[in-house]
Amino acid sequence: MFYVVKLKDVLQLDSFPKLYEKLSNFSSKNNDVADFIKNKAIDFEKRDMSRTYLILDPATEEIVGYFSLSLKVLNFSDEVSNTVKKRIHGMKSDAPFVPVILIGQLSKNFSYSGTVKGKDILDYAMDIVNKIHDMIGCRVCIVETLSNKENQKVVDFYESYGFKKLINNKTGEYYQLYLRIQG
Ligand SMILES: CC(C)(COP(=O)(O)OP(=O)(O)OC[C@H]1O[C@@H](n2cnc3c(N)ncnc32)[C@H](O)[C@@H]1OP(=O)(O)O)[C@@H](O)C(=O)NCCC(=O)NCCS
Repeated sequence: MFYVVKLKDVLQLDSFPKLYEKLSNFSSKNNDVADFIKNKAIDFEKRDMSRTYLILDPATEEIVGYFSLSLKVLNFSDEVSNTVKKRIHGMKSDAPFVPVILIGQLSKNFSYSGTVKGKDILDYAMDIVNKIHDMIGCRVCIVETLSNKENQKVVDFYESYGFKKLINNKTGEYYQLYLRIQG
């Protein structure tokens, strides 16, 4: 029903009319996620710091939602159990860190005139994650969300998809949630 384009390709081909206007009209319930697509995504793309994918409605060419992926080194704090470290690393229970795929941004466009479920956006993101897993191997992808009460429904959303909370930061300001990539 929808289709996915890489922001990188859109920029190179100049193939998406009114791109800047469409990006600036993006609306999200998370201000940081809205700010990223409006003000940072293109720069991050040009600097190869992340890849942003736009989900489009073929009938109207509206942006339905988006997500951004990048690589991250996940450092384990002392709070992480050896069992969890081994599960994530794959081999070592004393691993200090592990490379992961980060879903850095993900949002529906709340200005979109049609209907979309968050799960559909996450499914599109996982399609790309699975391809990366297939091509170069990587055991885990993670998301990071604020741990305040207002954000609990976002945490629920990721947990219902299968992500698990990693108790890994002492500040408690955000949660890291991880998902074992099955391919
Ligand atoms: C997270 C998301 C993809 C889930 O989509 P969904 O499964 O279709 O669910 P909904 O959009 O209906 O949201 C479910 C509930 O969570 C609430 N919610 C969603 N994002 C929220 C946020 N960032 N802050 C506070 N509440 C939020 C919604 O208001 C809704 O509340 P309700 O049940 O009282 O109506 C989507 O809500 C979204 O894009 N949120 C904004 C971006 C975001 O927070 N991304 C995660 C950080 S990377």
